[in-house]
Amino acid sequence: MILITGANGHLGGATIDFLLKKNPNTKIKALVRSEEKGKDLKAKGVESAVGDYLNYDSLLNAMKDVETLLLVSSSTIGDRHAQHANAIKAAKQAGVKHIVYTSVLGGNPNSKFSAGIDHYKTEEDIKNSGIPYTIMRNTYYADFLPDIIGNAIESGAIYYSAGDAKINFAARINMAEANAIVLADPSSYKNKVYEITSGNTYTFDEIAAMLSEITGKQIKYVDIPVEALKENIVKAGMPNEIAELMASIAESMKAGEFDFIDPTLEKLLGRKPVDLKDFLLNVYKK
Ligand SMILES: NC(=O)c1ccc[n+]([C@@H]2O[C@H](COP(=O)([O-])OP(=O)(O)OC[C@H]3O[C@@H](n4cnc5c(N)ncnc54)[C@H](OP(=O)(O)O)[C@@H]3O)[C@@H](O)[C@H]2O)c1
Repeated sequence: MILITGANGHLGGATIDFLLKKNPNTKIKALVRSEEKGKDLKAKGVESAVGDYLNYDSLLNAMKDVETLLLVSSSTIGDRHAQHANAIKAAKQAGVKHIVYTSVLGGNPNSKFSAGIDHYKTEEDIKNSGIPYTIMRNTYYADFLPDIIGNAIESGAIYYSAGDAKINFAARINMAEANAIVLADPSSYKNKVYEITSGNTYTFDEIAAMLSEITGKQIKYVDIPVEALKENIVKAGMPNEIAELMASIAESMKAGEFDFIDPTLEKLLGRKPVDLKDFLLNVYKK
C-alpha cells in the first residue's frame, strides 16, 4: 500500500493519476484533510484517510498497512519542519518501509528561499530515521510562473526581482510522473537524492522575449528591488507572510540558486521534460 499525502493537491493528485495509469490495481491510500476532500479520489477507487500533519494520531492511523509513503511537503505556512517531522515519526512507528519526499532543488540550509531550511531539516530527519528513502529535490514549478507574469500580457511588463539570473523551471506534471515512477519500484531508487529539473535555464529577459514571440505583443522585464516586490504583493491583498515567502523565492533565483540542470528527470521519464518555451506556449497561445 502506498500512502500519498497532499493527495487533494496538484502534485499528489497527479502522482495518483500516473500510478493508476501505470497499474490500475496499485493499492493507494490518500491522506486528505477532510472526508469531503477525499470524494473525488474515492470515485477513482482510491481509499482515503483523513489526517493533518499537525495531528500525530491522525497520521499514525493513516500509516496503518502502508509500505511506501509519498510525503508531499506541506503548503501550510508555519513550522513546516515540525509538520513533516510528525509524518516521519508516525511512519517510523507504523513500520513504513520507504519514504519518498518532495524537497527543493539544492536542499541548501543556507538558501535565500525561506522554506529551504525546513526542507533541509526534513531531509536530515528522513535520513536519521533509518527508513530507506528517495528525495526528489524539485526545482520551481513552471506552473508557478504565470502568477509571477501576472497581467504582463496586457501591461507589457513583468515586474520581478530575479535580476539577470538564469532559472530552471520544470512542469509539475513531469515531477508527478517522476514520483509515480519511483513509487512503483522504490527499491530501485533506495537512499538516493535527486535534483529534479528541466533541460534548460532562462533569465527573465528571455522569458519576456518568449512571451512577446508567443503573444505578438511587446513584453519587457523590469527588475525591481525586492522591497518593491513585497509591497506590490501586499497591495494585491496577500498577507505579509506570503509576501515574505515570495520575496525569498525571488532572492533565491537572483542568487543563482536555481541556475542548475540535472539529467535525472529526463532519465526517469525516458524523454525530455517539458521545456519552459513549450509550457508558456501552451498557456499563452490563443
Ligand atoms: N517547486 C515549486 O515551485 C513549488 C511551488 C509551490 C509549492 N511547492 C511545494 O510543493 C508542495 C506540493 O505542491 P502542490 O502544487 O501540489 O501544492 P498544493 O496543490 O497546494 O497541495 C498541497 C497539499 O498539501 C496539503 N496540506 C497542506 N497542509 C497540510 C497539513 N497541515 N496536513 C496535511 N496536508 C496538508 C493540502 O491539503 P488541502 O487539499 O486540504 O489544502 C494539499 O493537498 C506544496 O505543498 C509546497 O510545499 C513547490
